[in-house]
Amino acid sequence: MKYLLMLICIITSSLEASQNSALLFHGNCTTCHFETKSVSAPAMMEVRKRYLSAFPDKKDFIKQMAEWVHKPNEERSIMQDAIDKYGLMPNLAFEKDVLQDIAEYIYETDFTKQHKLH
Ligand code: HEC
Repeated sequence: MKYLLMLICIITSSLEASQNSALLFHGNCTTCHFETKSVSAPAMMEVRKRYLSAFPDKKDFIKQMAEWVHKPNEERSIMQDAIDKYGLMPNLAFEKDVLQDIAEYIYETDFTKQHKLH
């Protein structure tokens, strides 16, 4: 019984974590980054594609994206063309671990297909 309860806790908390990151992404990033259309910022689909080719390893992808979004800067950008076109992304003052969750969600989500929104 004790183990069953523990298992249920683990399952629900990990579900919550992944739902949270979808919600965080949709609440905070899609105001500028539409999923598949570039308007006032490159589409998240494009950002993801660029990051996947520069950092194919999941750990690197998450680390690099979280670090960059934590402190957007021109020197470490891998999308200089986007900076030229839209200007540097503003600093949104998120915690690093929140950004890691969001970056993991982006890594795992193919925005061109049906996907989890919250
Ligand atoms: C106020 C508008 C705005 C919001 C909100 C925003 N971005 Fe951006 N973002 C931009 C613009 C504009 C660019 C393109 C210029 C650049 O790369 O700095 C960009 C570029 C990026 C890049 C490319 C980095 C590179 O190498 O240049 C990443 C990754 C990124 N955004 C992630 C995010 C994530 C994750 C969120 C949500 C937590 C987010 N952005 C929210 C405007 C925004």
